Amino acid sequence: MTRTTHQPTDQEPAGLDNRAARPAGRRPAPTRKRQDRPDPVLRVRDLVVRHSASTGAELTAVDGIDLEVRAGETLGLVGESGCGKSSLANAVLRLIPTAGGSICFDGTELVGRSPAQMRDIRRDLQVVFQDPRSSLDPRMRLGAIVTEALRLHGLNNRRERRRIALQRLAEVGIDPALAHRRPAQLSGGQQQRVALARALVTQPRLVVLDEPVSALDVSVQAQVINLLQDMQRTYGTAYLFIAHNLAVVRHLSHRVAVMYLGKIVEQAPAHNLFRRPVHPYTKALIASVLPPRPDARARLEAVRRLAPGEVPSLAAVPSGCRYHTRCPFADTTCKAVEPTLVRIEGDHAGGHRVACHHWERVQAAAPQVQAR
Ligand SMILES: Nc1ncnc2c1ncn2[C@@H]1O[C@H](COP(=O)(O)OP(=O)(O)OP(=O)(O)O)[C@@H](O)[C@H]1O
Ligand SMILES: [Mg+2]
Repeated sequence: MTRTTHQPTDQEPAGLDNRAARPAGRRPAPTRKRQDRPDPVLRVRDLVVRHSASTGAELTAVDGIDLEVRAGETLGLVGESGCGKSSLANAVLRLIPTAGGSICFDGTELVGRSPAQMRDIRRDLQVVFQDPRSSLDPRMRLGAIVTEALRLHGLNNRRERRRIALQRLAEVGIDPALAHRRPAQLSGGQQQRVALARALVTQPRLVVLDEPVSALDVSVQAQVINLLQDMQRTYGTAYLFIAHNLAVVRHLSHRVAVMYLGKIVEQAPAHNLFRRPVHPYTKALIASVLPPRPDARARLEAVRRLAPGEVPSLAAVPSGCRYHTRCPFADTTCKAVEPTLVRIEGDHAGGHRVACHHWERVQAAAPQVQAR
């Protein structure tokens, strides 16, 4: 896939000045000088999320995570199944309680806000889940599904909402003539397009996308990904994008955070992360899924050996570095001392960060994954 989106840089974050097309009554974003660094749309600090396991014990699915997403930017979030990605996403959306930390959205602290106080926030903070069948109300017609958020927030009159619904459906590639249909009368790909139109209709500042294309076949996946990019270009929306398919994450994300057992272990601009992964876990994750260059097959096998064995349970997180039980570089320090996420490149939040005591040794000893 070829990246078509404009890449935000320190000097010029994408999509800051294209929000004039927000529905009537919205305040246009202030114009910024090019050199200004905008505040992040989302700033998460030391976030903790706990669940009660079936045994009655507690598990910490999100264990003190910091992250930021800026306007017009896509932050990809990857990691093995069960590492806590959806728990993080649902906490940001305030769909589940947090046990600690801060979630600052557009300058507003979300932790501690009541559901009623969250209502106004929700038009700027939307979500698309994996399965449109369960997220779309089967009784509603597509037009009403798309405009429901506008109606709930008292935006636009009925006629105008209808016009916006037809326009949004057309934008996501659904024939407006189908607006009277119900979700069951659409294919899965069409349903996910409707879910996207619904999420984007209020021109939100941030959309949380939790495996939005995982249930779709490959050709439809590509269409939805392109659509997400088009929408981001048009409206400057930021995305927190969760997916298992690393090729898709690489294609869509400006920066990527790698999660392991409730912690971020590496975070970097997407290009750096996939070209020069530093953490042994990231190397193994990338090596296990991306096609290597033909000259790198032998090295790839070596990298695969970096992550042997099963993922430990969140209910019994290993001491020290939680990756030490699978890491061939682990020593006594790793078993005893939890590494912090330190910056190894770049001079700001968008730089390359890794949580590994021995990242320099790993770099010297382990081959680079040169994914195509
Ligand atoms: N509501 C819940 N009650 C109890 N445990 C939960 C709940 N939700 C998630 N968990 C547990 O928290 C851990 C993290 O789950 P989470 O769904 O956040 O992982 P994930 O990274 O999104 O996984 P996947 O890639 O499979 O979607 C898992 O051990 C899971 O079983
Ligand atoms: Mg999940």
